[in-house]
Amino acid sequence: MGSRVVESTTMARNRPSKRLDASRASPLNRRKLQHLEACLDETVDLQRDSFAPFKLRYQALPEVSLDEVSTEGEFAGNKIAAPLIISSMTGGVGKEFCDINRNLARGAEALNIPLGLGSMKVMLSHEDAQVSFQVRNVAPSVKIIANLGLVSFNYGMSYEDMEWIIETVHPDVFGLHLNALQESIQEGGDTNFAGLLHCLEKIIHRCPLPIYVKECGGGIAPQLVYRLANMGVDYVDISGSDGTSWSAVEGRFSRDPSLGELLKDFGLPTAWILENLRLEKAGKVKIIASGGIRNGIQGVKALALGAHYVSVARPFLLAALDSAEAVVEAGRRIIREMHTAMFLVGVSRVEQLNRSLLIHTP
Ligand SMILES: Cc1cc2nc3c(=O)[nH]c(=O)nc-3n(C[C@H](O)[C@H](O)[C@H](O)COP(=O)(O)O)c2cc1C
Repeated sequence: MGSRVVESTTMARNRPSKRLDASRASPLNRRKLQHLEACLDETVDLQRDSFAPFKLRYQALPEVSLDEVSTEGEFAGNKIAAPLIISSMTGGVGKEFCDINRNLARGAEALNIPLGLGSMKVMLSHEDAQVSFQVRNVAPSVKIIANLGLVSFNYGMSYEDMEWIIETVHPDVFGLHLNALQESIQEGGDTNFAGLLHCLEKIIHRCPLPIYVKECGGGIAPQLVYRLANMGVDYVDISGSDGTSWSAVEGRFSRDPSLGELLKDFGLPTAWILENLRLEKAGKVKIIASGGIRNGIQGVKALALGAHYVSVARPFLLAALDSAEAVVEAGRRIIREMHTAMFLVGVSRVEQLNRSLLIHTP
């Protein structure tokens, strides 16, 4: 195993929690618990629907039977029940992380949809965090997406570390998150983002798995999507600024919460990114729409605007804190809504969704 990442210290304050014990030693692990706790509070969710100006074009005569409509598709070579991904969230030392990831994994398996796991940087400094990411036994047939912050490669993360994570977790796809907005609010955050495109090129060259680049609620602008596509990135998850706000989350733990509050909705709205994305310039890259996707109607609008998949984070976290069954129910609801919306616009296959099925009402 290669070099180990040195934990950055934070000025995080301990906050009382009813459900999660954030007092466990180690700044990185404690921060992860604090993040979970903060995400229980709905004020960190912007609840902005940037898809609202778009209406789906209702077909009074859809000329298709509801039973014929299928949300099925493909992800990384697997058949999937719907173009829906459980977004990367968590993992760490402790039962909370194990329970959440196992519930998400069980849910993903029952739903037959891909599963993103949270940042695995914690595995490098905490051996006992590994078990929280080892969910293959409960999700043997779904595609699993690993996760690391790209900026960590400017703070001691090595390619050998990445390879060790692949050997340990056995993911199918390797995710790298971009989170400049979050790091800029976090006390002691990793804010040196210089040279990371070059670093990403090296990772693409070295990593044996398909590469999935994602934001964390700040959004990826169309120009960067094209650049990532040209570099050979396989999946780009735009994660726009409609849902969970990492500025709001980090602001809570900052000595000066006003900056986090001011930048709470900084970033690019999810629908704006999709509307301005020219897919012909994006080559073969698959686009994932996320950031504030809360129902299947928004999901179908995102797919009609050109996304290949949608991904959802916070609602699945809330469900996973309850049970695997709650994860299944949350996923089934979104899929049912997608299915119904496809029927109502007269489409029986996901690939048939396109911009002509949307009415723009400014
Ligand atoms: C509790 C929590 C933890 C998260 N941790 C990570 C992470 O480790 N890596 C990552 O790439 N994104 C992480 N995210 C960001 C999500 O993957 C997603 O991009 C963002 O929350 C926007 O989606 P949403 O509005 O559906 O929540 C996390 C989100 C939540 C709610």
